[in-house]
Amino acid sequence: MSPRRSCSLSLITTLCFLTLHHTSAIKIYSESLAYEALYYSAAAYCSYEDLGKWNCGNACEKSEELTQMTLVTNPKRDTFGYVGYSEGDDRIIVAFRGTNGADLENWLTNLDSWMQRNPLDETGRSSVHLGFFNAYKDISSEITEAVRSLKEKHKKATLMITGHSLGGALALLAALDIRHQIFTQDPSEITLYTFGQPRVGDYAFANWVYEQLPPTYARVTHNDDAVPHVPPSLFGLQHVGNEIWYPSENASYIECENFANFRENGNCSNSLWFHAGIFSHLSYLGVKLTHQCKMNQPVGTLVGKADSFLA
Ligand SMILES: *[C@@H]1O[C@H](CO)[C@@H](O)[C@H](O)[C@H]1NC(C)=O
Ligand SMILES: *[C@@H]1O[C@H](CO)[C@@H](O)[C@H](O)[C@H]1NC(C)=O
Repeated sequence: MSPRRSCSLSLITTLCFLTLHHTSAIKIYSESLAYEALYYSAAAYCSYEDLGKWNCGNACEKSEELTQMTLVTNPKRDTFGYVGYSEGDDRIIVAFRGTNGADLENWLTNLDSWMQRNPLDETGRSSVHLGFFNAYKDISSEITEAVRSLKEKHKKATLMITGHSLGGALALLAALDIRHQIFTQDPSEITLYTFGQPRVGDYAFANWVYEQLPPTYARVTHNDDAVPHVPPSLFGLQHVGNEIWYPSENASYIECENFANFRENGNCSNSLWFHAGIFSHLSYLGVKLTHQCKMNQPVGTLVGKADSFLA
């Protein structure tokens, strides 16, 4: 139950305050979980063949081994994600690749702000970014089918969804979709950690997400990383999810809660005047996300490879 709803149901103001206070005091972020998510996100930048065997270099070595892998790619829009099962953690992992490092500035410049109605929201009030939504839609059925089949085999399994950059936007949309279709009972079975994630929806979307994934979503940002600040809030887009901000590489983090019916918290990365960082986008918690593979090939060639692998 969302704190807002429990609030409107409660007659006693003190109780209402306590409920709100209690809910907002939940600290979900754990740095060790963040490292787990980070290396799974980094693995999404590795090659198709290596990932299928969970032999992708540093990203795979630093993570619990995944088996029963499903690799989903759609070269049309450069979308790539994988689903795997970690026996050690009895956990299903879903991770998405971000934008090709070399194309990042180009991508940032050309990112438009077209919105469309959010089809998952029955109230029909919220909107999502059209480009991110389409990118997710290209691979959504394969991703959800893979999760469904793993969940049928491993009934107690929890779920971790993660991604860096564009991959973070896809991870958020996937988490909402899977919450709707598969993990319908308990949102706390889902852990959603994103790194350098762009804005995905509007103000109504932010409130809706807050209700769908109350305790489970951490949005990690780094210094002046430009990507969490696009598309601009000027166009009505707004983040949700508690922001975990690392002001510099080796600094400890600051946690900024985001509430329903509130604008983005200004105490984390929004406290900086300029957000032009590309280097701070490519490295999180001291880990260069696109450099954890067996071979550091430009991501573009890897997508090409995945394509020919499918053919
Ligand atoms: C952060 O720490 C690492 C490892 O100790 C070091 O190599 C790096 O230079 C540090 N970065 C900064 C910005 O101080
Ligand atoms: C931001 O920080 C100030 C000072 O610590 C605090 O009073 C305020 O409540 C914070 N704002 C939010 C939205 O958390």
